[in-house]
Amino acid sequence: MIKHDVKDIKLAAKGRLRIEWAAREMPVLKSIKERFTREKPLKGLKLAACLHVTTETGNLMETLKAGGADVYLCASNPLSTQDDVAASLVRNSGIPVFAIKGEDHKTYYKHIMSALSAKPNITMDDGADLVSTIHTKEKKLLKNIIGGTEETTTGVIRLRAMAEKGVLEYPIIAVNDAYTKYLFDNRYGTGQSTMDGILRATNRLIAGSIFVVAGYGWCSRGIAMRAKGMGARTIVTEVNPLRALEATMDGFEVMPMKDAARLGDIFVTATGDIDVIFGDCFRLMKDGAIFCNSGHFNVEISIGTLRKMARSRRQIRDFVEEYTLKNGKRIYLLGEGRLINLAAAEGHPSAVMDMSFANQSLCAEYMAGNYKKMDKTVYSVPDKIDSHISKLKLKSMGIKIDSLTPAQKKYLSSWEMGT
Ligand SMILES: NC(=O)c1ccc[n+]([C@@H]2O[C@H](COP(=O)([O-])OP(=O)(O)OC[C@H]3O[C@@H](n4cnc5c(N)ncnc54)[C@H](O)[C@@H]3O)[C@@H](O)[C@H]2O)c1
Repeated sequence: MIKHDVKDIKLAAKGRLRIEWAAREMPVLKSIKERFTREKPLKGLKLAACLHVTTETGNLMETLKAGGADVYLCASNPLSTQDDVAASLVRNSGIPVFAIKGEDHKTYYKHIMSALSAKPNITMDDGADLVSTIHTKEKKLLKNIIGGTEETTTGVIRLRAMAEKGVLEYPIIAVNDAYTKYLFDNRYGTGQSTMDGILRATNRLIAGSIFVVAGYGWCSRGIAMRAKGMGARTIVTEVNPLRALEATMDGFEVMPMKDAARLGDIFVTATGDIDVIFGDCFRLMKDGAIFCNSGHFNVEISIGTLRKMARSRRQIRDFVEEYTLKNGKRIYLLGEGRLINLAAAEGHPSAVMDMSFANQSLCAEYMAGNYKKMDKTVYSVPDKIDSHISKLKLKSMGIKIDSLTPAQKKYLSSWEMGT
């Protein structure tokens, strides 16, 4: 058996069936896998991926392997691994996986080091942990690397900061910023799966509740939209005036978090920022308030402050921790403040990950063919890839659209014709 570290290899059979179930909803990735099998565009390349180990990631790993890559996988979050998927990738697909749901901080980084021990040529990140580990502790690996890709908003922010400071040592493609990624994955994927995570963890009724969403970005607007659709009285908090205006005109109540703190029954953060729900908010919350995070890192809720403010805490249900404050109020943190959609549910539905991971596959192929021309900076996904994926996705959904007539093409590229 290949080198790996998973919870229980005997879970492989269950994981295989779940990977197959997800594949049904991933026709775009499937068509890429078929082409990769024939053309082997990644032949001879080692690829280390640090992603949420889910059924959809299982399909991505198999696609990259079909393309000829030697693939190694570790988790991009200690709580997001699906242990049966990890087992199946090892046993059924021969892919070395280093990931266990609930792993501690030390094991999380040990697993990153195990994936990196393959001396990868391409890194595939979700949150930039591979890139930051390579640039801080494993600089010797830089000589093998031709480039990388990044899946999420927070990772792209970190990488752009590195590029601006001139410390990024290889090109990265920001997969997150493709239209076929963030318009669907961040909005509809996070929107639906965050509600799923909250429901699985709490089984609370959303209708009629006061639901507070921090942020009105791509993820948070998806959550707000779904909460409103389920009948919640939904409040949005923002720091960006434009987005606050959008939320207002989309029909949401907008106010500062401190004001919302007194009102909310359920709170979700998805901002990529730190301390969005902070000490004063806990004091102001109603007895019974529930709060969680769907942003990348578990820094959006000030958990350290909460612990100091609490008289006691206990695990009351799976993924629900009750904090009794010194004033006697009991408030509830879900999923240790980690992405609730992956901690308590299964992450995004396969149909949106189909597009995100089609982007990942095609960007890895693009990197393999173009790295010699690329600089040490963060690149957008080429438009060609984005529009190719939207066409394939529409086709797979059986949706046809109009095309421009020659007269319309001419009109749309000219300025002479007016009223
Ligand atoms: N849960 C998931 O599966 C999942 C999926 C994709 C992205 N993400 C993560 O979710 C986070 C948000 O991503 P996005 O694509 O929506 O980003 P985005 O940039 O589109 O939106 C973030 C929004 O949060 C707002 N914001 C920042 N600080 C705030 C504060 N203190 N209070 C209120 N609002 C604040 C910003 O103004 C912005 O409008 C990132 O960490 C990203 O990596 C999670």
